[in-house]
Amino acid sequence: MTRSDDTDKTTFLDPVNEKRSLHLTESKIAFAGHPIHAMLVAFPIALTMCVLGADLFYWWTGDNFWVTAAGWASFGAFAMAVMAAITGTVELLMVSGIRNRAVSWTHFILAMTLLSILGLNWLIRIDAAEEAILPLGLAISFLAAGMTAITGWHGGKLVFDYQIGTKDDGS
Ligand code: HEM
Repeated sequence: MTRSDDTDKTTFLDPVNEKRSLHLTESKIAFAGHPIHAMLVAFPIALTMCVLGADLFYWWTGDNFWVTAAGWASFGAFAMAVMAAITGTVELLMVSGIRNRAVSWTHFILAMTLLSILGLNWLIRIDAAEEAILPLGLAISFLAAGMTAITGWHGGKLVFDYQIGTKDDGS
């Protein structure tokens, strides 16, 4: 998008600066001003890495302790990701400056893909926790860890690059 002024100088317009509603990005799902989504995401991130670690320790040692640990961690990772996704989605739908940014929807798609992987990683362990680990469970745990890293990194990008979820008076 360009605009020509009287001296025929062409300047580029930033649509984000032009449209003030895009500045309304402050988190609404917050506790004492702190976004709850940001507090929750640490849990699925850490628990997903725990599942991968437990699967690897089971492969290395054959100790059944790691089967139980991986099973509970996979449940916790999925459950806490669902909680994080609920707070994130309410934020996405309620706050115009978040809803109107394409980058927020990219995060939504990444997170939904991650939720499917985390759900699958838990489901395959429900009836056959030990048999599920090698090789399928371990492979899904690697995929989940990679997808968590991408989604978490992208969430950080929302906040630190695009100021989504932060207070902004638009000036
Ligand atoms: C549908 C699901 C999700 C939606 C709609 C969503 C949306 C958002 C939004 C709007 C923000 C900006 C901060 C805020 O307003 O709270 C954010 C930040 C973030 N999200 Fe999500 N999110 C979802 C799921 C997830 C999941 C499952 C993860 C776990 C990997 C995640 C990781 C992050 C991280 C790490 C941040 C940066 C937090 C910070 O540093 O303050 N998100 N997300």
